[in-house]
Amino acid sequence: MKGVILAGGLGSRLHPLTKVTNKHLLPVYDKPMIYYPIECLVKAGIEEILIVTGGNSAGDFLRLLENGTDFGLKRIHYAYQRGEGGIAAALKLAEDFAAGEKICVVLGDNLIEKNIRKAAKDFEAQEGGAKILLKEVEDPDRFGVATIQDGKVIEIEEKPKAPKTNLAVIGIYMYDSQVFQFIRELKPSARGELEITDVNNAYIRQGAMSYEVLDGWWTDAGTFDSLLRANEMVAGGGANKMDA
Ligand code: DAU
Repeated sequence: MKGVILAGGLGSRLHPLTKVTNKHLLPVYDKPMIYYPIECLVKAGIEEILIVTGGNSAGDFLRLLENGTDFGLKRIHYAYQRGEGGIAAALKLAEDFAAGEKICVVLGDNLIEKNIRKAAKDFEAQEGGAKILLKEVEDPDRFGVATIQDGKVIEIEEKPKAPKTNLAVIGIYMYDSQVFQFIRELKPSARGELEITDVNNAYIRQGAMSYEVLDGWWTDAGTFDSLLRANEMVAGGGANKMDA
Protein backbone atom coordinates (compact mmCIF):
# COMPACT_ATOMS: atom_id res chain seq x y z
CA MET A 1 0.00 0.00 0.00
CA LYS A 2 1.17 3.52 -0.78
CA GLY A 3 0.74 6.60 1.44
CA VAL A 4 -0.71 10.02 0.62
CA ILE A 5 -0.51 13.04 2.92
CA LEU A 6 -2.76 15.98 2.19
CA ALA A 7 -1.05 19.18 3.26
CA GLY A 8 -2.66 21.77 1.00
CA GLY A 9 -5.27 24.33 1.93
CA LEU A 10 -4.66 27.84 3.19
CA GLY A 11 -4.93 27.22 6.93
CA SER A 12 -7.12 30.29 7.23
CA ARG A 13 -8.42 29.24 10.65
CA LEU A 14 -4.87 29.75 11.97
CA HIS A 15 -4.26 33.28 10.65
CA PRO A 16 -1.89 35.08 11.24
CA LEU A 17 0.25 31.99 12.03
CA THR A 18 -0.30 30.79 8.47
CA LYS A 19 0.06 34.16 6.76
CA VAL A 20 3.63 33.50 5.61
CA THR A 21 4.01 29.76 6.08
CA ASN A 22 2.07 26.55 5.53
CA LYS A 23 0.06 25.17 8.48
CA HIS A 24 1.80 21.80 8.24
CA LEU A 25 5.22 23.39 8.77
CA LEU A 26 4.19 24.93 12.12
CA PRO A 27 5.73 23.29 15.20
CA VAL A 28 3.88 20.72 17.25
CA TYR A 29 6.04 20.46 20.37
CA ASP A 30 9.49 19.47 19.03
CA LYS A 31 8.79 18.76 15.34
CA PRO A 32 7.11 20.36 12.34
CA MET A 33 3.46 19.19 12.08
CA ILE A 34 4.08 17.28 8.81
CA TYR A 35 6.50 14.88 10.61
CA TYR A 36 3.62 13.24 12.49
CA PRO A 37 1.56 11.98 9.51
CA ILE A 38 4.80 10.83 7.84
CA GLU A 39 5.80 8.82 10.92
CA CYS A 40 2.27 7.45 11.16
CA LEU A 41 2.55 6.00 7.65
CA VAL A 42 6.13 4.76 8.12
CA LYS A 43 5.08 2.89 11.26
CA ALA A 44 2.24 1.29 9.31
CA GLY A 45 4.89 -0.23 7.03
CA ILE A 46 4.46 2.18 4.11
CA GLU A 47 7.60 2.99 2.14
CA GLU A 48 6.46 5.36 -0.59
CA ILE A 49 4.60 8.60 0.11
CA LEU A 50 3.10 11.42 -1.93
CA ILE A 51 2.74 14.79 -0.22
CA VAL A 52 0.13 17.07 -1.76
CA THR A 53 0.74 20.64 -0.74
CA GLY A 54 -0.06 24.13 -1.99
CA GLY A 55 -0.49 27.69 -0.87
CA ASN A 56 2.33 29.25 1.09
CA SER A 57 5.85 27.85 1.30
CA ALA A 58 5.29 24.78 -0.87
CA GLY A 59 9.02 24.72 -1.70
CA ASP A 60 9.93 24.51 1.98
CA PHE A 61 8.58 20.95 2.16
CA LEU A 62 11.29 19.84 -0.25
CA ARG A 63 13.99 21.59 1.79
CA LEU A 64 12.67 20.11 5.03
CA LEU A 65 11.93 16.55 3.97
CA GLU A 66 14.28 16.06 1.01
CA ASN A 67 13.81 12.51 -0.37
CA GLY A 68 12.44 11.13 2.87
CA THR A 69 15.40 8.89 3.63
CA ASP A 70 15.70 10.31 7.19
CA PHE A 71 12.27 8.78 7.84
CA GLY A 72 13.28 5.42 6.37
CA LEU A 73 11.23 6.01 3.22
CA LYS A 74 12.25 4.78 -0.21
CA ARG A 75 11.14 8.08 -1.63
CA ILE A 76 8.84 11.07 -1.14
CA HIS A 77 6.90 12.38 -4.13
CA TYR A 78 5.35 15.85 -4.23
CA ALA A 79 2.26 17.34 -5.89
CA TYR A 80 0.99 20.91 -5.88
CA GLN A 81 -2.67 21.77 -5.29
CA ARG A 82 -3.80 25.09 -6.71
CA GLY A 83 -6.28 26.92 -4.46
CA GLU A 84 -8.32 25.23 -1.76
CA GLY A 85 -10.79 22.99 -3.57
CA GLY A 86 -11.24 20.54 -0.71
CA ILE A 87 -9.74 17.33 0.61
CA ALA A 88 -11.11 15.21 -2.25
CA ALA A 89 -9.76 17.72 -4.80
CA ALA A 90 -6.30 17.38 -3.23
CA LEU A 91 -6.58 13.59 -3.28
CA LYS A 92 -7.44 13.64 -6.98
CA LEU A 93 -3.83 14.69 -7.63
CA ALA A 94 -2.66 11.29 -6.30
CA GLU A 95 -4.18 9.18 -9.08
CA ASP A 96 -1.01 8.70 -11.15
CA PHE A 97 1.08 8.11 -8.01
CA ALA A 98 -1.34 5.42 -6.76
CA ALA A 99 -1.16 3.65 -10.14
CA GLY A 100 -3.98 1.26 -9.25
CA GLU A 101 -2.62 0.29 -5.80
CA LYS A 102 -4.46 0.68 -2.51
CA ILE A 103 -3.66 3.93 -0.66
CA CYS A 104 -3.68 5.12 2.93
CA VAL A 105 -4.51 8.84 3.08
CA VAL A 106 -3.63 10.96 6.11
CA LEU A 107 -4.68 14.57 6.59
CA GLY A 108 -1.57 16.61 7.30
CA ASP A 109 -3.00 18.13 10.47
CA ASN A 110 -4.05 14.86 12.15
CA LEU A 111 -2.01 13.31 14.97
CA ILE A 112 -2.49 10.03 16.83
CA GLU A 113 -1.01 8.55 19.98
CA LYS A 114 -0.57 4.97 18.82
CA ASN A 115 -0.31 3.38 15.40
CA ILE A 116 -2.50 2.10 12.56
CA ARG A 117 -0.44 -1.00 11.79
CA LYS A 118 -3.27 -3.46 12.47
CA ALA A 119 -5.88 -1.41 10.59
CA ALA A 120 -3.52 -1.13 7.59
CA LYS A 121 -2.88 -4.89 7.64
CA ASP A 122 -6.61 -5.60 7.87
CA PHE A 123 -7.24 -3.31 4.92
CA GLU A 124 -4.49 -5.00 2.86
CA ALA A 125 -6.36 -8.26 3.45
CA GLN A 126 -9.76 -6.70 2.62
CA GLU A 127 -10.86 -7.53 -0.93
CA GLY A 128 -11.24 -3.88 -1.94
CA GLY A 129 -13.42 -0.95 -0.92
CA ALA A 130 -12.45 1.40 1.86
CA LYS A 131 -11.77 1.62 5.58
CA ILE A 132 -12.23 4.53 7.98
CA LEU A 133 -11.17 5.00 11.58
CA LEU A 134 -13.53 6.41 14.18
CA LYS A 135 -13.00 8.03 17.55
CA GLU A 136 -15.44 9.08 20.25
CA VAL A 137 -15.24 12.86 20.79
CA GLU A 138 -16.98 15.51 22.87
CA ASP A 139 -17.43 17.93 19.95
CA PRO A 140 -18.62 15.80 17.00
CA ASP A 141 -20.15 18.82 15.23
CA ARG A 142 -16.59 19.82 14.16
CA PHE A 143 -16.08 16.61 12.16
CA GLY A 144 -17.52 13.98 9.86
CA VAL A 145 -19.82 11.92 12.11
CA ALA A 146 -20.58 8.23 11.53
CA THR A 147 -23.76 6.31 12.30
CA ILE A 148 -23.36 2.57 12.91
CA GLN A 149 -26.09 -0.04 12.53
CA ASP A 150 -25.64 -3.81 12.88
CA GLY A 151 -21.86 -3.43 12.92
CA LYS A 152 -21.73 -1.37 9.71
CA VAL A 153 -21.33 2.33 8.98
CA ILE A 154 -24.58 3.37 7.34
CA GLU A 155 -24.01 7.11 6.98
CA ILE A 156 -21.48 9.90 7.53
CA GLU A 157 -22.64 13.49 8.01
CA GLU A 158 -20.14 16.31 7.58
CA LYS A 159 -20.17 18.73 10.53
CA PRO A 160 -23.84 18.12 11.45
CA LYS A 161 -25.55 20.73 13.64
CA ALA A 162 -27.28 17.93 15.58
CA PRO A 163 -24.88 14.94 15.49
CA LYS A 164 -26.60 11.53 15.77
CA THR A 165 -23.54 9.98 17.47
CA ASN A 166 -20.25 11.13 18.99
CA LEU A 167 -18.17 9.01 16.58
CA ALA A 168 -15.91 11.33 14.59
CA VAL A 169 -14.35 10.11 11.34
CA ILE A 170 -10.67 10.81 11.80
CA GLY A 171 -8.44 12.03 8.98
CA ILE A 172 -6.94 8.64 8.08
CA TYR A 173 -8.66 6.86 5.20
CA MET A 174 -7.84 3.69 3.27
CA TYR A 175 -9.08 3.28 -0.30
CA ASP A 176 -8.87 1.01 -3.30
CA SER A 177 -8.35 2.53 -6.77
CA GLN A 178 -12.09 3.14 -7.20
CA VAL A 179 -11.69 6.27 -5.08
CA PHE A 180 -10.63 8.28 -8.12
CA GLN A 181 -13.79 7.34 -10.00
CA PHE A 182 -15.89 8.47 -7.03
CA ILE A 183 -13.97 11.78 -6.90
CA ARG A 184 -14.67 12.39 -10.59
CA GLU A 185 -18.41 12.07 -9.85
CA LEU A 186 -18.42 14.58 -6.95
CA LYS A 187 -20.13 17.94 -6.96
CA PRO A 188 -18.85 20.83 -4.76
CA SER A 189 -20.58 21.12 -1.37
CA ALA A 190 -22.26 24.22 0.08
CA ARG A 191 -18.82 25.40 1.25
CA GLY A 192 -17.56 25.06 -2.34
CA GLU A 193 -15.29 22.06 -1.69
CA LEU A 194 -15.08 18.48 -2.93
CA GLU A 195 -15.78 16.66 0.33
CA ILE A 196 -14.06 13.48 1.47
CA THR A 197 -17.30 12.64 3.33
CA ASP A 198 -19.10 12.37 -0.02
CA VAL A 199 -16.42 9.92 -1.21
CA ASN A 200 -16.87 7.85 1.96
CA ASN A 201 -20.66 7.84 1.55
CA ALA A 202 -20.23 6.53 -2.00
CA TYR A 203 -18.32 3.52 -0.60
CA ILE A 204 -20.99 3.08 2.11
CA ARG A 205 -23.76 2.99 -0.51
CA GLN A 206 -21.80 0.29 -2.30
CA GLY A 207 -21.55 -1.77 0.91
CA ALA A 208 -17.75 -1.62 0.65
CA MET A 209 -16.83 0.40 3.76
CA SER A 210 -15.30 -1.14 6.87
CA TYR A 211 -14.31 0.69 10.05
CA GLU A 212 -12.31 0.38 13.23
CA VAL A 213 -12.45 2.45 16.40
CA LEU A 214 -9.05 4.01 17.08
CA ASP A 215 -7.21 3.18 20.28
CA GLY A 216 -5.40 6.06 22.07
CA TRP A 217 -5.82 9.79 21.60
CA TRP A 218 -6.43 11.53 18.28
CA THR A 219 -6.50 15.22 17.49
CA ASP A 220 -6.47 17.54 14.54
CA ALA A 221 -4.38 20.73 14.77
CA GLY A 222 -6.19 23.11 12.44
CA THR A 223 -7.57 25.56 15.00
CA PHE A 224 -5.86 27.44 17.83
CA ASP A 225 -7.46 25.17 20.43
CA SER A 226 -6.69 21.90 18.66
CA LEU A 227 -3.14 23.04 17.84
CA LEU A 228 -2.59 23.74 21.54
CA ARG A 229 -4.10 20.34 22.40
CA ALA A 230 -1.81 18.62 19.88
CA ASN A 231 1.23 20.27 21.50
CA GLU A 232 0.07 19.19 24.96
CA MET A 233 -0.65 15.62 23.91
CA VAL A 234 2.74 15.18 22.21
CA ALA A 235 4.63 16.88 25.06
CA GLY A 236 2.80 14.67 27.56
CA GLY A 237 3.98 11.37 26.11
CA GLY A 238 4.67 11.42 22.38
CA ALA A 239 2.77 10.37 19.26
CA ASN A 240 2.87 7.40 16.84
CA LYS A 241 3.92 4.99 19.59
CA MET A 242 4.69 1.44 18.50
CA ASP A 243 4.75 -0.29 21.86
CA ALA A 244 1.46 1.17 23.06
O1 DAU B 1 -9.72 16.04 11.01
C1 DAU B 1 -10.71 15.18 10.55
C2 DAU B 1 -11.76 15.91 9.75
O2 DAU B 1 -11.11 16.49 8.60
C3 DAU B 1 -12.91 14.99 9.30
O3 DAU B 1 -13.65 14.53 10.42
C4 DAU B 1 -13.85 15.72 8.35
O4 DAU B 1 -14.82 14.82 7.87
C5 DAU B 1 -13.04 16.27 7.15
O5 DAU B 1 -13.88 17.01 6.29
C6 DAU B 1 -11.94 17.19 7.66
O6 DAU B 1 -12.52 18.33 8.27
P1 DAU B 1 -11.87 19.80 8.31
O7 DAU B 1 -12.88 20.78 7.83
O8 DAU B 1 -11.33 20.01 9.68
O9 DAU B 1 -10.67 19.73 7.26
P2 DAU B 1 -9.70 20.92 6.84
O10 DAU B 1 -10.36 21.82 5.86
O11 DAU B 1 -9.14 21.56 8.09
O12 DAU B 1 -8.54 20.13 6.12
C7 DAU B 1 -7.80 19.14 6.78
C8 DAU B 1 -6.51 18.89 6.02
O13 DAU B 1 -6.79 18.52 4.68
C9 DAU B 1 -5.60 20.08 5.94
O14 DAU B 1 -4.71 20.09 7.06
C10 DAU B 1 -4.88 19.93 4.63
C11 DAU B 1 -5.83 19.07 3.79
N1 DAU B 1 -6.48 19.87 2.71
C12 DAU B 1 -7.64 20.56 2.98
C13 DAU B 1 -8.24 21.31 2.00
C14 DAU B 1 -9.54 22.07 2.27
C15 DAU B 1 -5.88 19.93 1.48
O15 DAU B 1 -4.82 19.30 1.25
N2 DAU B 1 -6.49 20.68 0.48
C16 DAU B 1 -7.65 21.37 0.69
O16 DAU B 1 -8.14 22.01 -0.26
